[in-house]
Amino acid sequence: MVIVKEGIYWVGTVDWSIRNFHGYVTHRGTSYNSYLVVDEKVALIDFVKAPFAEEQLARISEVIDPKKVDYIVANHAEPDHSGSIRRVMEVCPNAEVIATERCINTLLKYYGGDLKITPIEKKPTIKLGKRSLAFVPVPMAHWPDSMVSYMPEEKLLFSNDAFGQHLASSGRFDDEVDEAELFRHGAKYYANILLPYSPLVLKLLERVAASGLAIEVIAPDHGPVWRKDLAGILGRYGRWAAQKPTDKAVVVYATMWKSTEWMARAMAEGIAEGGLQVKLMNMDEVHRSDVAFEILEAGALCAGSPTLNNNLLPQMADVLTYLKGLRPAGLVGSAFGSFGWSGESVKQVQDCLGDFKVETVGEAIRVKHAPDRDTLALCRQQGRLVAAAVKERIARG
Ligand code: FEO
Repeated sequence: MVIVKEGIYWVGTVDWSIRNFHGYVTHRGTSYNSYLVVDEKVALIDFVKAPFAEEQLARISEVIDPKKVDYIVANHAEPDHSGSIRRVMEVCPNAEVIATERCINTLLKYYGGDLKITPIEKKPTIKLGKRSLAFVPVPMAHWPDSMVSYMPEEKLLFSNDAFGQHLASSGRFDDEVDEAELFRHGAKYYANILLPYSPLVLKLLERVAASGLAIEVIAPDHGPVWRKDLAGILGRYGRWAAQKPTDKAVVVYATMWKSTEWMARAMAEGIAEGGLQVKLMNMDEVHRSDVAFEILEAGALCAGSPTLNNNLLPQMADVLTYLKGLRPAGLVGSAFGSFGWSGESVKQVQDCLGDFKVETVGEAIRVKHAPDRDTLALCRQQGRLVAAAVKERIARG
């Protein structure tokens, strides 16, 4: 039995095996957290993914007869937090389910129009006894329906997707998990889930700071509960959401016969000579979600592809389409690639970079068949220009 605070229990489940979370590679699995508050009234916070319904119910039963659950708070309709709804409602027949209007509309579409759910617009707070819950909509953190639930008496925020991470672990709290792992997976989660909503995240953090709201524990729906280093995760969210460039660049490429690869390596060398850290990522070997993670705090993105059948290589289209959706901001970069006869890919890569407002430095570099010594020197020089542009942006602040 995992006790978050006296009378508050973790009743979620750890998914050690999942490796694909809607296109995000979860090398270390995840968890679907759910919490049970036992007071004069009993409240369950969030459901779990459908295949884990029985495990959630078993954990609830360890604490209390499920028939005694009075409220179920549904903070978010995405199926990783709502999948067990039918089964849990069957076993908790006396519970009133509470959610935002938007969440209700989505739940009714997913699970059937006969569900009875109370909108928070009618019940913005509930009294449980010594403790209470206040519901706060946070649209787009992660979907339009998302909300968080705050328990002022315990200074506890049930934050749903926010402050989560896809990390299966035996430790349920931040002080029980290796710190480097904790922030690495927190960053990857932010990059792949919350990055597009960074302007909203910034506003939310400002609102919380201005309100003077006391928070001692953040209990998200994925990964460990934050009870020790809240300043660490809140500070990082501020930094990630601000998307200020750092002295780091990412060179991402795909290759057929190594010509574009040699260009990528030369460009990476030039970037390093210019004083930046650089990550070279071959899309045949890495996953798009790992590229998103590396870009999170980068100042530059260079991208290269040869031409195949008048197009860029599909694996480059994949990662660039994915990044366009995540909307990383404030990057400089460059496009490059080799070709045999038609050579459309470099212009296509450059257009893709433009789609998410990467400011390209110098001319894109195209080479027929294979780069010679002069072309590789040009790539190195382009790398140095990219590094200089990042440093100038950092200096500007
Ligand atoms: Fe963890 Fe938006 O679901």
